[in-house]
This record gives sequence, C-alpha cells and structure tokens, in this order.
Amino acid sequence: MDGEIRIFGGGSMKFSTKAIHVGEEPNYEVNGEVVSPIHLSTTFARRYPEVPTKGYEYTRTSNPTRGALEKKLASLEEGRFGLAFASGLAAETSLLLALLKKGDTILASDDLYGGTRRIFESVIKKFGVDFRTVDFTSTASFETEARSSRIIWVETPSNPLLKIIDIAKLSKMAHENGSLLVVDNTFATPYFQNPLKFGSDVVVHSTTKYISGHSDTLGGGIVTNNDELFEKLKFHQNAVGAVLSPFDSYMTMRGIKTLSVRMREHEKNAMRIAEYLLEKNKVKKVYYPGLEDHFNHEVAKSQMKGYGGIVSFALDLDREGIRRFLRNLKYITLGESLGGVESLIEVPSLMTHASVPREVREQMGIIDNLVRFSVGIEDVDDLIEDLESAFGAI
Ligand SMILES: Cc1ncc(COP(=O)(O)O)c(C=O)c1O
Repeated sequence: MDGEIRIFGGGSMKFSTKAIHVGEEPNYEVNGEVVSPIHLSTTFARRYPEVPTKGYEYTRTSNPTRGALEKKLASLEEGRFGLAFASGLAAETSLLLALLKKGDTILASDDLYGGTRRIFESVIKKFGVDFRTVDFTSTASFETEARSSRIIWVETPSNPLLKIIDIAKLSKMAHENGSLLVVDNTFATPYFQNPLKFGSDVVVHSTTKYISGHSDTLGGGIVTNNDELFEKLKFHQNAVGAVLSPFDSYMTMRGIKTLSVRMREHEKNAMRIAEYLLEKNKVKKVYYPGLEDHFNHEVAKSQMKGYGGIVSFALDLDREGIRRFLRNLKYITLGESLGGVESLIEVPSLMTHASVPREVREQMGIIDNLVRFSVGIEDVDDLIEDLESAFGAI
C-alpha cells in the first residue's frame, strides 16, 4: 500500500523467513532498499545538544547496520536481545568483563576452542578469577563444583571432539546453584539448536563461522533474554569497544540469509563423510553426533534439529603419515577455521589447540593424530573421491 511501512519484528515467522527479512525492512521513507544499507558514519549529527538524532550518537555505542544484525541474531536464537562484536573472542571477553569480579570462578566444559581456554587461563585468571574444567557429558562429577561458580561455560557440540552436553539438565543445575549458564552455539548454529529454549542464560557465537559462512568476515555475537544481563552487556560493549564494523555487520547479514540452506547441505555432506570414514581401516575413531554410536547421540537428538557439519576423526597414522594424507588432498584445504562453504581440514594439536599445554590436551582427548574436518557444501562425491585418493597415497 502507498506509504505503508512494513515492520518485520520476528513474531511468528519461520527460521528461513527471519534469516532473510528481520533487520532488512524496506525503508519507504528513504529509498525503499530491500537490502539494509551500510551506515559507515562514525558519528551522527544533532539538531539539539541533548537530543541524539533517532537515538544514534556514535558508532561504537550503536550503529544502524550493526543494530539490524543484532536484531537478526536475536530473532534467530529466539532471544530478545542481540549484540555484535569484532570477533567471537571479542564477544567472549566483553561478556566475561561484564559478568565477573575478583574471587569468582568459571567452570567450563573440558573440550573447548583453544582460544576460549586461553582467555580463561591467560587473560581473565590474572584478575583473580579462578578457572576449572569438568566433563559435563556425564552429570555425576559436577554438582559440587557448580555450587561455587559464577559462570558455567560450555560448547555443545564442542570443538574439536563434538561432545554433546544436556543443556536443559545443566541449566537446571546451574540455576539451583546460582550460576549463569553460557552456551557457545557456534558449531550447531541457531538453525540446529536454540540453547535459550533449554534454559541457558546467554548464547555466544563466533559469527566468523557458519553464521557468515563464507570465510571472509570475522565476528562475534551474544544473545540473551535477560534484561539486566543485556543492560550490563550493552554497557560493556560500548565501554570495551570491541564492536563489529558496519561493513562486517553487512557481510554477516548477507551470509545469514542463506544459513538454513547451507546448514542443510553441510549436515547432509557431513553425515555421508562420517559414514564413509567409519569404513576406512586407517580411521581409528569417528566423532560425529549424528552417528548412533556417538556417546550422547540421544541427548543431541533431543535438543538439536540437526547435527551440523563438523566431523573429527583419529587416524591410525604417525605424524609423517598424517602429513602425507593432508598433502594429497585436492579440494579439502588444510587451514584453521570452519563453517565456510569450502571444506577445511586441520590438526588441532598443531593448529587450533596448539596453545593448550600438551598434558591438558591429552587429558582432554586431543591426541596428536586427531583431525578436524569442516565439511563444506561442495558435491559430496568429489569430497569422498578426494579423501579416497589421499588414503590411497599413504
Ligand atoms: C567454538 C568457537 N568459539 C569461539 C571461537 C572464537 O571465534 P573468533 O575466531 O571469531 O574470535 C571459535 C573459533 O574458532 C570457535 O570455534
């Protein structure tokens, strides 16, 4: 209708519709673009000293493009508040600075991205915050530990061992003990899992991965339903200043529009690859939550709508054998990161988790011959042919 402004708030829209439309409302009062514009201005002109124009003052504090992304992220995670940061680790650090004080404890799951562990161990600990880990895949051991923790922090599925943690059970226990539960949902993405629905207080993302999806944008996101937490986080987002730039906000929004299509393909390919690897005699163990013999497959089934695109596997090869295997891959590229359309493979002990001391790594199960495969959305027959020729060369 002439002059009508359409407002897309999330509401009853399904996931793919939200991914495309939330934050992208055509502004009929200006040009009616169907793509949210990139607002590069770092500052916003005022008519009167006390009144910011349309609420915007300075881009570190808030920016229309970042705001559009924050709205989109919140709606996909079925949360009320979203915040975007310069990287996943920037989001995590800002969150920790907002929530912790001297004398507090972080109790984290034992299998974690190495960079996250590095923040706990080498950045936050020196401010008098204790950090301990526990295996949350079985609940037996952590009841007493949880009692004294300000924050319980988990990845599910975890990086790189694809451990699955029961979010509903853990959030109940966390809340009984006065702890806050933070879930890193990077591997599952909101397409396959919404931790807030299972009781988690905060969801964090490295949007660098599946959410932006094309290995060309760093970013981090936080979503919560808690008003008080949001106020603290918003304050720290501005005070710490590790915000996502308008251009990267646009790139992330662009990626999100195809998140559901990409995730379906990632998962389909990952399942085929996991089943293929199970048959190879040079593969000692395959880690993929979609496999029925995965330790917590039933928990994964109950809280996830799909199992994601990462498959880890242990090779029955020495270091030289692993090098030869990797050298003989053609499309599957050796490189850090994950979640892009292209297949990436890496050796956690030498790459993403090299900053974790060897004895801790081994305790966690990150053995030297473990390989992590971020299965891309190429034709899966080409990927299997690629693996087949690399196995043939060893
Ligand atoms: C599970 C997980 N969380 C957080 C991060 C950190 O994100 P970023 O690299 O965007 O800082 C990563 C990076 O690999 C990750 O895999």
